Amino acid sequence: DIKGFVFDLDGVITDTSILHGTAWHQLADSLGVAWSDELANGLKGISRMDSLEMILKAGGKENDYTQAEKEQLATQKNTNYVAEVDKMTPANILPGMKAFLDDLRAKGYQLSLASASKNAPRVLGKLQLADYFPKIVDPASLTHGKPDPEIYTKGAELLNLPANQCIGVEDAAAGVAAINAAGEVSLGIGDATELGAADMVFADTAEVTLDNIAKKLG
Ligand code: BG6
Ligand code: MG
Repeated sequence: DIKGFVFDLDGVITDTSILHGTAWHQLADSLGVAWSDELANGLKGISRMDSLEMILKAGGKENDYTQAEKEQLATQKNTNYVAEVDKMTPANILPGMKAFLDDLRAKGYQLSLASASKNAPRVLGKLQLADYFPKIVDPASLTHGKPDPEIYTKGAELLNLPANQCIGVEDAAAGVAAINAAGEVSLGIGDATELGAADMVFADTAEVTLDNIAKKLG
Protein backbone atom coordinates (compact mmCIF):
# COMPACT_ATOMS: atom_id res chain seq x y z
CA ASP A 1 0.00 0.00 0.00
CA ILE A 2 1.21 3.47 -0.91
CA LYS A 3 1.48 5.78 2.12
CA GLY A 4 3.79 8.53 0.94
CA PHE A 5 4.83 10.70 -1.99
CA VAL A 6 8.36 11.96 -2.57
CA PHE A 7 8.21 14.95 -4.91
CA ASP A 8 10.65 16.54 -7.26
CA LEU A 9 9.99 20.29 -7.52
CA ASP A 10 11.31 21.86 -10.72
CA GLY A 11 9.13 20.80 -13.66
CA VAL A 12 6.74 18.84 -11.42
CA ILE A 13 5.13 21.27 -9.00
CA THR A 14 6.11 24.41 -10.87
CA ASP A 15 7.41 25.56 -14.22
CA THR A 16 10.92 26.46 -12.97
CA SER A 17 12.50 23.88 -15.30
CA ILE A 18 11.92 26.49 -18.02
CA LEU A 19 13.63 29.18 -15.90
CA HIS A 20 16.60 26.89 -15.15
CA GLY A 21 16.82 26.12 -18.88
CA THR A 22 16.71 29.78 -19.89
CA ALA A 23 19.41 30.74 -17.37
CA TRP A 24 21.69 27.87 -18.51
CA HIS A 25 21.00 28.70 -22.17
CA GLN A 26 22.12 32.29 -21.52
CA LEU A 27 25.32 31.08 -19.86
CA ALA A 28 26.00 28.58 -22.67
CA ASP A 29 25.61 31.37 -25.24
CA SER A 30 28.05 33.60 -23.36
CA LEU A 31 30.59 30.73 -23.30
CA GLY A 32 30.09 29.91 -26.98
CA VAL A 33 28.60 26.47 -26.27
CA ALA A 34 25.89 25.40 -28.73
CA TRP A 35 22.50 24.86 -27.04
CA SER A 36 20.19 21.99 -27.98
CA ASP A 37 16.98 20.39 -26.71
CA GLU A 38 18.98 17.28 -25.95
CA LEU A 39 21.39 19.22 -23.74
CA ALA A 40 18.48 21.02 -22.06
CA ASN A 41 16.70 17.72 -21.26
CA GLY A 42 19.88 16.12 -19.99
CA LEU A 43 20.28 18.93 -17.46
CA LYS A 44 16.88 18.33 -15.83
CA GLY A 45 17.32 17.13 -12.25
CA ILE A 46 21.10 17.60 -12.33
CA SER A 47 22.82 19.67 -9.60
CA ARG A 48 24.15 23.15 -10.30
CA MET A 49 27.84 22.23 -10.57
CA ASP A 50 27.16 18.98 -12.47
CA SER A 51 24.98 20.95 -14.91
CA LEU A 52 27.81 23.40 -15.52
CA GLU A 53 30.22 20.51 -16.14
CA MET A 54 27.79 18.98 -18.66
CA ILE A 55 27.52 22.28 -20.53
CA LEU A 56 31.29 22.79 -20.61
CA LYS A 57 31.78 19.19 -21.77
CA ALA A 58 29.19 19.63 -24.54
CA GLY A 59 31.35 22.48 -25.83
CA GLY A 60 34.66 20.67 -25.28
CA LYS A 61 35.57 23.34 -22.70
CA GLU A 62 35.75 21.32 -19.50
CA ASN A 63 39.47 22.04 -19.10
CA ASP A 64 39.32 25.72 -19.96
CA TYR A 65 38.36 27.02 -16.50
CA THR A 66 39.75 26.80 -12.99
CA GLN A 67 37.52 25.56 -10.17
CA ALA A 68 37.18 29.16 -8.92
CA GLU A 69 36.10 30.32 -12.38
CA LYS A 70 33.59 27.47 -12.61
CA GLU A 71 32.12 28.49 -9.28
CA GLN A 72 31.84 32.05 -10.57
CA LEU A 73 30.00 30.86 -13.69
CA ALA A 74 27.59 28.81 -11.58
CA THR A 75 26.97 31.81 -9.33
CA GLN A 76 26.29 33.96 -12.38
CA LYS A 77 23.67 31.47 -13.58
CA ASN A 78 22.14 31.29 -10.13
CA THR A 79 21.89 35.08 -9.80
CA ASN A 80 19.94 35.22 -13.08
CA TYR A 81 17.76 32.28 -12.02
CA VAL A 82 16.95 33.69 -8.58
CA ALA A 83 15.93 37.04 -10.12
CA GLU A 84 13.28 35.12 -12.08
CA VAL A 85 12.23 33.02 -9.07
CA ASP A 86 11.63 36.19 -7.09
CA LYS A 87 8.97 37.20 -9.63
CA MET A 88 7.04 33.96 -9.06
CA THR A 89 3.62 33.70 -7.42
CA PRO A 90 1.19 30.82 -6.70
CA ALA A 91 0.05 31.30 -10.33
CA ASN A 92 3.27 29.48 -11.29
CA ILE A 93 2.07 26.21 -9.76
CA LEU A 94 1.57 23.78 -12.65
CA PRO A 95 -2.05 22.84 -13.57
CA GLY A 96 -3.71 20.49 -11.10
CA MET A 97 -0.78 20.31 -8.70
CA LYS A 98 -2.31 22.39 -5.90
CA ALA A 99 -5.48 20.28 -6.01
CA PHE A 100 -3.40 17.08 -6.04
CA LEU A 101 -1.36 18.19 -3.00
CA ASP A 102 -4.56 19.19 -1.16
CA ASP A 103 -6.11 15.81 -1.94
CA LEU A 104 -3.01 13.93 -0.76
CA ARG A 105 -2.95 15.90 2.47
CA ALA A 106 -6.69 15.45 3.07
CA LYS A 107 -6.35 11.69 2.59
CA GLY A 108 -3.42 11.42 5.00
CA TYR A 109 -0.58 10.68 2.61
CA GLN A 110 2.83 11.83 3.79
CA LEU A 111 4.84 14.21 1.63
CA SER A 112 8.52 14.97 1.29
CA LEU A 113 10.61 16.90 -1.23
CA ALA A 114 13.55 15.42 -3.15
CA SER A 115 14.73 18.35 -5.25
CA ALA A 116 18.35 18.79 -6.29
CA SER A 117 17.83 22.55 -6.02
CA LYS A 118 19.35 24.58 -3.22
CA ASN A 119 16.69 27.16 -4.08
CA ALA A 120 13.79 24.78 -3.31
CA PRO A 121 12.74 26.43 -0.01
CA ARG A 122 12.76 29.83 -1.73
CA VAL A 123 10.63 28.52 -4.61
CA LEU A 124 8.14 26.83 -2.24
CA GLY A 125 7.84 30.12 -0.36
CA LYS A 126 7.01 32.02 -3.55
CA LEU A 127 4.37 29.41 -4.42
CA GLN A 128 2.99 29.55 -0.86
CA LEU A 129 3.48 25.78 -0.58
CA ALA A 130 6.06 25.70 2.25
CA ASP A 131 3.42 24.29 4.66
CA TYR A 132 2.99 21.20 2.50
CA PHE A 133 6.66 20.29 2.72
CA PRO A 134 8.07 20.44 6.23
CA LYS A 135 10.27 17.52 5.15
CA ILE A 136 12.85 18.45 2.53
CA VAL A 137 15.98 16.50 1.65
CA ASP A 138 18.90 18.94 1.88
CA PRO A 139 20.73 18.63 -1.45
CA ALA A 140 23.92 19.85 0.29
CA SER A 141 23.84 16.62 2.35
CA LEU A 142 24.11 14.38 -0.73
CA THR A 143 27.18 12.44 -1.80
CA HIS A 144 25.72 11.76 -5.25
CA GLY A 145 23.06 13.54 -7.31
CA LYS A 146 20.33 12.03 -9.48
CA PRO A 147 20.37 9.42 -11.10
CA ASP A 148 21.90 8.03 -7.88
CA PRO A 149 19.06 6.86 -5.60
CA GLU A 150 20.38 8.71 -2.51
CA ILE A 151 18.01 11.69 -2.66
CA TYR A 152 14.90 9.48 -3.04
CA THR A 153 16.09 7.06 -0.36
CA LYS A 154 16.46 10.03 2.00
CA GLY A 155 13.04 11.32 0.95
CA ALA A 156 11.39 8.06 2.09
CA GLU A 157 13.49 7.97 5.27
CA LEU A 158 12.18 11.43 6.20
CA LEU A 159 8.70 9.88 6.11
CA ASN A 160 9.76 6.79 8.06
CA LEU A 161 8.36 4.67 5.26
CA PRO A 162 9.85 1.71 3.39
CA ALA A 163 10.69 2.60 -0.22
CA ASN A 164 7.97 0.39 -1.71
CA GLN A 165 5.27 2.37 0.12
CA CYS A 166 6.34 5.57 -1.64
CA ILE A 167 5.65 7.02 -5.06
CA GLY A 168 8.39 9.29 -6.44
CA VAL A 169 7.19 12.03 -8.79
CA GLU A 170 9.54 13.30 -11.50
CA ASP A 171 9.81 15.11 -14.83
CA ALA A 172 13.43 14.10 -15.56
CA ALA A 173 14.89 10.85 -16.85
CA ALA A 174 17.70 11.13 -14.27
CA GLY A 175 15.08 11.45 -11.53
CA VAL A 176 13.04 8.45 -12.71
CA ALA A 177 16.25 6.40 -12.70
CA ALA A 178 16.92 7.57 -9.12
CA ILE A 179 13.40 6.60 -7.96
CA ASN A 180 13.66 3.16 -9.57
CA ALA A 181 17.08 2.54 -8.04
CA ALA A 182 15.68 3.56 -4.62
CA GLY A 183 12.98 0.89 -4.98
CA GLU A 184 10.08 3.32 -5.02
CA VAL A 185 7.22 3.43 -7.52
CA SER A 186 8.13 5.92 -10.24
CA LEU A 187 5.63 8.40 -11.65
CA GLY A 188 6.94 10.37 -14.61
CA ILE A 189 5.37 13.56 -15.95
CA GLY A 190 6.23 14.46 -19.53
CA ASP A 191 7.29 12.71 -22.71
CA ALA A 192 6.66 8.94 -22.50
CA THR A 193 9.65 8.08 -24.67
CA GLU A 194 12.00 10.20 -22.56
CA LEU A 195 10.56 8.78 -19.32
CA GLY A 196 10.12 5.23 -20.60
CA ALA A 197 11.75 3.74 -17.49
CA ALA A 198 8.95 5.03 -15.23
CA ASP A 199 6.32 2.68 -13.75
CA MET A 200 3.69 5.13 -15.00
CA VAL A 201 3.84 8.25 -17.16
CA PHE A 202 1.41 11.15 -17.39
CA ALA A 203 1.75 13.60 -20.27
CA ASP A 204 0.65 16.54 -18.16
CA THR A 205 0.47 17.55 -14.48
CA ALA A 206 -3.30 18.06 -14.83
CA GLU A 207 -3.72 14.30 -15.30
CA VAL A 208 -1.97 13.41 -12.05
CA THR A 209 -4.76 12.48 -9.64
CA LEU A 210 -5.16 9.67 -7.11
CA ASP A 211 -7.88 8.11 -9.29
CA ASN A 212 -5.66 8.08 -12.37
CA ILE A 213 -2.74 6.69 -10.36
CA ALA A 214 -4.96 3.89 -8.98
CA LYS A 215 -5.99 3.01 -12.55
CA LYS A 216 -2.35 2.79 -13.68
CA LEU A 217 -1.30 0.77 -10.64
CA GLY A 218 -4.06 -1.72 -11.59
C1 BG6 B 1 16.99 20.63 -10.22
C2 BG6 B 1 16.75 21.21 -11.60
O1 BG6 B 1 15.77 20.48 -9.57
O2 BG6 B 1 17.82 21.50 -9.45
C3 BG6 B 1 18.07 21.52 -12.28
O3 BG6 B 1 16.01 20.28 -12.37
C4 BG6 B 1 18.92 22.40 -11.38
O4 BG6 B 1 17.81 22.16 -13.51
C5 BG6 B 1 19.10 21.73 -10.02
O5 BG6 B 1 20.19 22.63 -11.97
C6 BG6 B 1 19.93 22.56 -9.04
O6 BG6 B 1 19.26 23.76 -8.75
P1 BG6 B 1 19.90 24.97 -7.97
O7 BG6 B 1 18.71 25.88 -7.71
O8 BG6 B 1 20.50 24.45 -6.70
O9 BG6 B 1 20.91 25.58 -8.85
MG1 MG C 1 12.54 18.21 -12.16
